[in-house]
Amino acid sequence: MNLADLNTVAQAMVVPGKGILAADESSGTIAKRFDVIGVTSTEESRRDYREMLFRASDAMTKYISGVILYDETIWQNARDGTPLVKLIEQAGAIPGIKVDEGTQPLPGCPGELVTVGLDKLAERLKKYYAQGARFAKWRAVIDINAAGGIPSMTAIGVNAHALGRYAALCQAAQIVPIVEPEVLMDGDHDIERCFDVTSRVLNVTFQELRKQRVALEGMILKPNMAIAGKKSTKKASVEEVAEKTVRMLKACVPAAVPGIAFLSGGQSDEEATAHLDAMNRIGNLPWKLTFSYGRALQSAPQKAWSGKAENVVAGQRALTHRAQMNSLATKGEWKA
Ligand code: 13P
Repeated sequence: MNLADLNTVAQAMVVPGKGILAADESSGTIAKRFDVIGVTSTEESRRDYREMLFRASDAMTKYISGVILYDETIWQNARDGTPLVKLIEQAGAIPGIKVDEGTQPLPGCPGELVTVGLDKLAERLKKYYAQGARFAKWRAVIDINAAGGIPSMTAIGVNAHALGRYAALCQAAQIVPIVEPEVLMDGDHDIERCFDVTSRVLNVTFQELRKQRVALEGMILKPNMAIAGKKSTKKASVEEVAEKTVRMLKACVPAAVPGIAFLSGGQSDEEATAHLDAMNRIGNLPWKLTFSYGRALQSAPQKAWSGKAENVVAGQRALTHRAQMNSLATKGEWKA
């Protein structure tokens, strides 16, 4: 492993003014997104959609540092035969790859999940590196369910262990791991409970990263914010989300980590931007704070595009707008 090179890539991923486009929806997830806009999900429609995103040159050159791809996409070519990976590189962004293989029920822990995909990961990483990937992503999913005693320490532990295994394998393959332990915002829990659970998850995750000798300077953390559940009756203000999230991260995330790139997790487009902006306004932080949004960057372009070739420019404009707003938020310069 060359840690200086890993650190250079990690720093570039979180450079102020830019963030990550999470376009790594599995075929099942993108089909659900396409359902909403009345588009049938085929290899071709998925390609056309993602080609539209990666050819949005204003968004890609000015506001996007890297793109997380799904396995299908990293091997696909644009309509004119240019590999999609090349479109991303030509825009000056870094190609990345989702390498987990989704979740499975965790035996002994009803209602909880474990992320899988470690088998043969070392070989897969070599192929992805050769195809241009310089960073990867692995998402662990932790649910909060007060009634069922969820999350259990078992679920937190096995998911953190897998994140550690994945991150160590990535660094050995000269790929920067995005470590994503996502505490879901489904449910009716309040922000305090999210704060407590996420703190525990982050602490166990960093214990595993240390145990498995992951170099913190060569990774990016992708956490959820401290935020009330979607069904909570006690919605927290933008300032409270920002203050609690920063407090939580300061207590749990070592300063050696170059950057933290949040997931949007089901927040509205504008909330995701406002929260990031408010955190960066607090200032004086040991790491860069940026976005690695899926839905909060793509809902608007998906709607504007709706699968029609004549809407490509409108789709690209919608992506550029959201990316620009989030770019401003990385500097605490966004205005509602
Ligand atoms: P959302 O921003 O839609 O939560 O997606 C980010 C992501 O990559 C989830 O793994």
